[in-house]
Amino acid sequence: MSQIKIITVIGGGTMGNGIAHVFAMNGFEVNLVDTKQELLDRALNTIEKNLDRMVQKEKISDADKLKTLDNIHPSLNLGESVKKADLIIEAIPEIFKLKKQVLSDIDKHAGEHAVIASNTSSISITRLAAVTDHPERFIGMHFFNPVPVMKLVEVVNGLETASEVTKLIEDISRELGKVPVPVNDSPGFVSNRVLMPMINEAIFCVYEGVGSPEHIDEVMKLGMAHPMGPLRLADFIGLDICLDILNVLYDGFKDPKYRPCPLLVKMVDSGKLGDKTGIGFYNHE
Ligand SMILES: NC(=O)c1ccc[n+]([C@@H]2O[C@H](COP(=O)([O-])OP(=O)(O)OC[C@H]3O[C@@H](n4cnc5c(N)ncnc54)[C@H](O)[C@@H]3O)[C@@H](O)[C@H]2O)c1
Repeated sequence: MSQIKIITVIGGGTMGNGIAHVFAMNGFEVNLVDTKQELLDRALNTIEKNLDRMVQKEKISDADKLKTLDNIHPSLNLGESVKKADLIIEAIPEIFKLKKQVLSDIDKHAGEHAVIASNTSSISITRLAAVTDHPERFIGMHFFNPVPVMKLVEVVNGLETASEVTKLIEDISRELGKVPVPVNDSPGFVSNRVLMPMINEAIFCVYEGVGSPEHIDEVMKLGMAHPMGPLRLADFIGLDICLDILNVLYDGFKDPKYRPCPLLVKMVDSGKLGDKTGIGFYNHE
């Protein structure tokens, strides 16, 4: 397995711009690909703002900021950007059909040695790997939001992921200052399999009138030492994302314990998605 020097990140949204930021700050050359120039501009603005915050907090110097921005090459050309890369990280929306189409395009252009990783939060890595001709070089590299801050990378092995690929991704995660934790492919992996039922149960407590969102979150913060209560966290993640992940767990295990709370379904139907729409269990406006 050759050394990783050039990274191509596909999708410059919430996760993609954070992933590009972290790799570029650690000296890697990063191609950042999206579908429209305005989306690339927005991604770069976000990265610059986040770097400015790090300069203000004296975590990095002005020169580090400029070097980081210099390492990022925005592009609308997926094929050209993938061709040059040692590692390609897919961070497009959590829609299997869309990922399938983009991954098969990535696979067409990727070099012989290249590793393809997905940042999916719930879709089966084995199923995504099957879209490519080299499932042994496919892996889940699950970063957490906000990427520059959160230490965890859940490294998800598909059925056919080669052990050298797992080691490579663990090593590179450490180079980024992250802590890789290997897990095997299963619906929701470990992170969301444990987190989402807790969030869902907290929503059932609101639905059944056991407590208000504020009181439920207080119980979990003060009694269980959670830094953020489950309902505040659900708003932060996005209630639509929580519902999608619960449905992946429910479909994957065919176990009623993962059924999404009807209140969650209603809130998503009414467009109350949490922080991103200004209202969820809390008012963020
Ligand atoms: N948001 C989170 O907290 C979080 C955490 C961990 C993992 N994830 C996972 O990361 C992935 C991305 O999530 P996100 O929150 O960053 O989504 P997002 O909607 O913020 O960003 C997705 C980006 O992909 C771009 N895109 C769509 N189609 C594309 C294509 N064909 N080529 C290039 N770019 C394309 C979009 O324009 C957008 O900029 C999802 O699989 C999600 O489940 C999200």
